[in-house]
Amino acid sequence: MTKSGSAVKVLFVTTELAPFSKVGGLGDVAGSLPKALRQAGVDVRVVTPAWPGVLESVAASGLKTTTVKTKVYAAYDWRIHSATVIKADVKGVPTYFLKAEDYTGDMYPSQLNFWTASPFAVFCMQALELKDAIEWEPDIYHCHDWTSAFLPCALAWHRHYRQTSGKSIMTLHNVAYQGIFEPSPFLEASGLEPWSFSSSTMEFYGQVNLLKGGIVAATAVSTVSPTYAGEIQTYESTRELSGILYQQRSKLRGILNGLDTKFWDPNGDKAIPAKFSPKDLKGKAACKRALLERAGFDPDTDAPVIVCVSRLVEQKGFDMVFNAAHQIAETGAKLLILGSGNDWIENGIIQAAEANPQSIKLFKGYDEPLSHLMYAGGDIFLMPSVFEPCGLSQMISMRYGTVPVVREVGGLRDTVFDVDRPEGGNGFTFQTCDVDGMMWALRRAVERYRDKAAWKKIMLEGMREDFTWDKSAGLYKDMYEDLMQ
Ligand code: ADP
Ligand code: GLC
Repeated sequence: MTKSGSAVKVLFVTTELAPFSKVGGLGDVAGSLPKALRQAGVDVRVVTPAWPGVLESVAASGLKTTTVKTKVYAAYDWRIHSATVIKADVKGVPTYFLKAEDYTGDMYPSQLNFWTASPFAVFCMQALELKDAIEWEPDIYHCHDWTSAFLPCALAWHRHYRQTSGKSIMTLHNVAYQGIFEPSPFLEASGLEPWSFSSSTMEFYGQVNLLKGGIVAATAVSTVSPTYAGEIQTYESTRELSGILYQQRSKLRGILNGLDTKFWDPNGDKAIPAKFSPKDLKGKAACKRALLERAGFDPDTDAPVIVCVSRLVEQKGFDMVFNAAHQIAETGAKLLILGSGNDWIENGIIQAAEANPQSIKLFKGYDEPLSHLMYAGGDIFLMPSVFEPCGLSQMISMRYGTVPVVREVGGLRDTVFDVDRPEGGNGFTFQTCDVDGMMWALRRAVERYRDKAAWKKIMLEGMREDFTWDKSAGLYKDMYEDLMQ
């Protein structure tokens, strides 16, 4: 509630929105948290760019759309950038898709410079302009990652927007991506005041760092798990923003992500060949057969199937996986990996699969339906992340009775608990970030799999965890209300 007793008005400013645009977990969060917030009594709405294909996918989902009468305009780089606003109700959340020339390229640029960063600044300005077009003024702009970090900077330091009322929250889904590029001609073109570019604001080794600016400028900062909130104040996991995060710690909180448990439900999932639930696990065997067949392996094998669904980037620790390929094959397990990303990681996995064709298979690419089959058909979910802000995949795998083996870091530490603790747990964890550490946990999992009764107990433990947004939506609501005091 606000002081006047009405619901807090929050505009979610996000560049990904599942199921229409998604690269990783940010898309999932933006596609599920707002619904939970509305149920908790927050008047939340969402704004997102209509990247190529997004409006087509909205139409294909059967949602009704309307075009808002007034366009939004933003002055940037000495010209006016206009966007058409297309509204749809997504899971009961009013959602505004901005259709503009600025969003006709790839969602995320491979190289960041003034030109490739500009759509993200324009998006933030258009989000600030939206209130007039839709006649609804947010109390709080809730921004996510560097791609919307320009918005808090504009509210604090922009010639024109610093007159705009409204608070801002910067949620950090991944501090490793910061939006760094050269200051010229951005500083002149953006309309930011010259003092926005100092070592205590946006400047970072002579470059612009949008995330740093967003953290400093935002009224409050949150990140996606309590453990990561602590970790990012130390040197190792932030690529040098830890000093700023430590300095800003009084406005930082860690709120654990949840899942859309209706969407990720093995008992209702249309993308898998057989349904199952904690009460009746039979269908899982059919999913495992289908997955093994798809991989070209013997569907009748009694070997445990280890699965990974991931972006193949340094963060996720796949160098440990391909360096351990031979040892993994020796355990007798099958290893199936779905993902794409950096060439050196893809190549490492391809070589591992070529050297162990009976045991290892890579499905290269991004494939949503296949990801569901992997979660449902696997026995063990391997996620040996170097760092992990929260991680959704380990929670999804637990929903599908696939037991996680993870490194004890970030949100993995807050969601996966080792079964060999005296109080028991829902998975297998390790600390040391190397092949020996990972294999120590993976071998324990493969051995335990042979004990059917013990294994079933671990599966059920994970399947019965509460991964809904309910608790965390309440914590976000508290944060919004604290800001309104
Ligand atoms: P991150 O956001 O760092 O990528 P998360 O675990 O938070 O990691 O979220 C990853 C999300 O992206 C999950 O929903 C996962 O299923 C999905 N995902 C990752 N890689 C793929 C892929 N290759 N194909 C389909 N879905 C994928
Ligand atoms: C990021 C993180 C991941 C987190 C997701 C959603 O992509 O890498 O750990 O779960 O954002 O918050």
